[in-house]
Amino acid sequence: MSFSKDFLWGGATSANQIEGAWNIDGKKASVADHTRGGSLKVKREFDYILKESCYYPSHMAIDFYNHYEEDIALFAEMGFKVFRMSIAWSRIFPHGDEINPNEKGLEFYDKIFDLCHKYNIEPLVTLSHFEIPIGIVKDYQGFSDRRVIDFFVNYAKTVMFYYKDKVKYWLTFNEINFGLIPLGSLLTLGIYDKNLEIETHEKTVRKFQSLHHVLVASAKAVIEGKKINPDFKIGNMIAHLTYYPLTPNPDDLLLTQEFDSFMNNYCGDVQVFGKYSKTSLNYLNKLNIKIDITEEDEEILKNGTVDFYSFSYYMTNCVTHEKGHEKTLGNLLGGVKNPYLQSSEWEWQIDPKGLRYTLNKLYDRYEIPLMIVENGLGAKDILENNTVEDDYRIDYLRQHIKQIEIALNDGVEVLGYTSWSPIDSISAGTGEMDKRYGFIYVDKDNQGEGTLKRYKKKSFYWYKKVIESNGEDLN
Ligand code: BG6
Repeated sequence: MSFSKDFLWGGATSANQIEGAWNIDGKKASVADHTRGGSLKVKREFDYILKESCYYPSHMAIDFYNHYEEDIALFAEMGFKVFRMSIAWSRIFPHGDEINPNEKGLEFYDKIFDLCHKYNIEPLVTLSHFEIPIGIVKDYQGFSDRRVIDFFVNYAKTVMFYYKDKVKYWLTFNEINFGLIPLGSLLTLGIYDKNLEIETHEKTVRKFQSLHHVLVASAKAVIEGKKINPDFKIGNMIAHLTYYPLTPNPDDLLLTQEFDSFMNNYCGDVQVFGKYSKTSLNYLNKLNIKIDITEEDEEILKNGTVDFYSFSYYMTNCVTHEKGHEKTLGNLLGGVKNPYLQSSEWEWQIDPKGLRYTLNKLYDRYEIPLMIVENGLGAKDILENNTVEDDYRIDYLRQHIKQIEIALNDGVEVLGYTSWSPIDSISAGTGEMDKRYGFIYVDKDNQGEGTLKRYKKKSFYWYKKVIESNGEDLN
């Protein structure tokens, strides 16, 4: 078995990391627009009130808002079958809680979807990708307020109705499990907390309650979406954090199991099975956390399960109960260094075989189609002679795609693969431009300077060949 003829090859982006035009045509700020640039060493700061002296990378990003025709034409040249992007909630409902949408915002995405279809590219739309409107943060404390469920659902219904004949594939919340860790408090839950480092019982309860509201909002969007168009395919999106025990010590295995249940299954189970697992409820009990789950919520979760499970996969980490081992970084969370793996410049461990393992593990648990909607190598690129010789990126992607093929042979059902990100964009974690993932180089630096000119990297031609040969030619 190899890639099916309708396998969805493509690339993934998010509005706040590419669009720019943060306050144009009626759009208002999202949490991303209040987050400063940073680096591996300098943490990104969130400003409740924007400061003139600070640099906010999303304000211009790579100006996709004004370059989308050129960019989508380049995706088409590579032969994309699918383009994953997000709609910025605050472009459609600028404050987040309005009843009527911003027409100019709707028009923008309408043009994008028309263009995608002109090139036979299927849009895959994330409804919320770390872009909660700042109005929702300031006036409601994000999803800690139950009313925000309905604001989100109104937004979801609006765009799903408006684009019902143009978009078939939807994802509800990007990396929803990010809501489980303090950093995701703002990006996923929309809660502003000045003292993020200090965890109290009250805050933990609020976090789980808010995440419950996000899960209900996600399920309600699925239900409403299916009423609008029963042919919609709606998925969840989990940052899958694959962990290995560092040693065969049973204590390490138990810790690995606990991490996996918590970071991956807590949200995944609700979205696929339609209810919290007993393990999750036991976990909440142990922490003495009581969350308000109404009968209506239970009904919504039960009826709003997803059609496919999508996830991001960049690296794996080890877990151990022993102290003193070397640490490594990663997407959302780091872990303990694996002596068998190499790391990227940003210290994310490269583990293609872990992707095969993850695909098998997920398919075994959920038995629904899977989609890898983020995978890629963030690296420093050097532009020379109008191109980048990014053999390191080609090698990373090649190894991962090979493992997907092996997983297909294992019998796993995989709908598609969208690498992160087909064009250089702002790094979510560090806010840098220097952490580049694209097949297309964008002339812009960490301070926001540059011509914004686009250049095809070596990987551009390689990925084109991969798609053309439907994954057969990976050389
Ligand atoms: C995921 C996000 O966490 O990883 C993306 O969904 C993000 O938004 C990607 O860009 C890569 O992370 P980073 O920090 O390298 O941009």
